Amino acid sequence: MYNQHGAMVAVKSRLVIFDSEGVIKMPDRLGVTINKFIMGEQLSIPHATGDFSGLLNELVVATKVIAREVNKAGLVDVLGKTGNTNIQGEEVKKLDEYANTAIIQKMDHTGYLCAMASEEEDGIIEIEDKHPQGGSYTLAFDPLDGSSNIDANVSIGTIFSIHRKISSAPKGTLADFLQRGSEQVGAGYVIYGSSTMLVYAAGQGGVHGFTLDPSIGEFLLSHPFIKIPERGKIYSVNEGNSHKWDDRIKGMVDYFKTDDKQTGRPYSSRYIGTLVSDFHRNLLYGGVFMYPGDADNPNGKLRLLYEAAPLAFICERAGGGSIADYEDILDIEPTTLHQRVPLYIGSKGDVDICRKFLKGEM
Ligand code: AHG
Ligand code: MN
Ligand code: MN
Repeated sequence: MYNQHGAMVAVKSRLVIFDSEGVIKMPDRLGVTINKFIMGEQLSIPHATGDFSGLLNELVVATKVIAREVNKAGLVDVLGKTGNTNIQGEEVKKLDEYANTAIIQKMDHTGYLCAMASEEEDGIIEIEDKHPQGGSYTLAFDPLDGSSNIDANVSIGTIFSIHRKISSAPKGTLADFLQRGSEQVGAGYVIYGSSTMLVYAAGQGGVHGFTLDPSIGEFLLSHPFIKIPERGKIYSVNEGNSHKWDDRIKGMVDYFKTDDKQTGRPYSSRYIGTLVSDFHRNLLYGGVFMYPGDADNPNGKLRLLYEAAPLAFICERAGGGSIADYEDILDIEPTTLHQRVPLYIGSKGDVDICRKFLKGEM
């Protein structure tokens, strides 16, 4: 239940107690597992069936399986390429394929999903007849984000987006995926880095981060109620593409690099090349990530359904902003499964500056 401070309070001592600043007063020393927290959020939603909680909990297990493989990457044969290319025309790394299979095989028989969509699969992934049918949700995911960083032991991630099934067809259809980001019922990501961390938001709830304790194999609540600073001091963009940008984008990036102490500039440049990691750092510290459209790729590189929209959901729930060109990411009506969008996402004040440059107002 949420009391007048907006904090979750104990119900039958099964939940976590937050004070009005969101500080946890844990009834038990171990810490709050993500399963307990998900149950807590479910209890605060009238008429919840538990399917969404079940879906999330199964997905959490799939990410633990991926984390185990990522952490072994340098030791066993999961580095390197498969020799295949995906619909994006990108070479598929072994860990891309492993993560993709891990999620599909973990989720396809749960009965919670009507279909899935993955960066690594051309079309939607149907739930085979041998598995329970009639799931109420769709799951779109980027199984392994930042693939180019895998072999260099740089942090990588998984991104997921959950929508409610809206079509009347017995099985999930493309229409169930082509929904606006604002219609998501939940979204989140995992970072496989110096520690493995899962961040998610569901319904109208806040953004919460959980850190994996490998000694017990549990994600424990470590970052409740994440809020992104209104303005940051970090800009993240691949400046190697600057020769292909139009003048609006060049002006925008130059703005963040200009020395002007009164407005806290220049910002620091930070770019990991793994969207999840660049986003997560800016979520905690403040700042803006930009992947503009350019002369070669007018819609940029990042995919709407399983990269931009889920992170935009998280960012907005944390008090930040996210736009494509002029419109909010969450308002875009998707037209294809793997469509790309330009992405400017992070602190509200910084994204507003991007929006002004894109409109030619700065
Ligand atoms: P993925 O590995 O899922 O294809 O995603 C890679 C994306 C994203 O993680 C990152 O922000 C971006 O590619 C980096 O692109 P550049 O190397 O062109 O900067
Ligand atoms: Mn990606
Ligand atoms: Mn990927």
